[in-house]
Amino acid sequence: MGYIASEVFENGLCSLMSRIVPEGEEDTVTPPDHFRIWPDDARQLLKALPDGCLDRAYLMFPDPWPKARHAKRRFIHPENIRELARLLKPGAVWRVASDHPVYQDWVFEIMGTQDLFDAPPPAKGERPEGWSPTRYEAKAYREGRVPFYWTFTRRDA
Ligand SMILES: C[S@@+](CC[C@H](N)C(=O)[O-])C[C@H]1O[C@@H](n2cnc3c(N)ncnc32)[C@H](O)[C@@H]1O
Repeated sequence: MGYIASEVFENGLCSLMSRIVPEGEEDTVTPPDHFRIWPDDARQLLKALPDGCLDRAYLMFPDPWPKARHAKRRFIHPENIRELARLLKPGAVWRVASDHPVYQDWVFEIMGTQDLFDAPPPAKGERPEGWSPTRYEAKAYREGRVPFYWTFTRRDA
């Protein structure tokens, strides 16, 4: 199985590299073959991938863009939902986590009006087994915010 990580924030990419190659060798050692990094806008990557090529997708603590006038910038958006539905195999899961109350309400609203994914109620306040922790998640717990963890399943096309 292969993995593609997407992040545009340079410090985030450096932190990722430090976990997958030995310390101090980040500039000379390439990541393992089954691991690819997309250091650019994830939406461009999604557009370039072929239908049904993904077994799983993660959207971990996306930027919340809490102001209503910025809602179009939120990753959970009908256009991106359609793109993920195109890429994920039937039965494949899309994991989404958010600690931001505005974004959490937004996920309920937008995922409640689509029919491409089954959208059961999320786990709340405790990371489900098998999910990896993230740095931002740790910060959320430290600062008293309660994350929600959704597992959306791609319906048969
Ligand atoms: C709140 S942080 C969460 C970081 C990390 N996923 C975690 O949980 O620790 C949101 C991250 O999404 C990245 N991001 C925002 N828009 C993006 C995009 N279009 N493509 C790739 N990464 C993006 C930002 O650079 C930022 O680091």
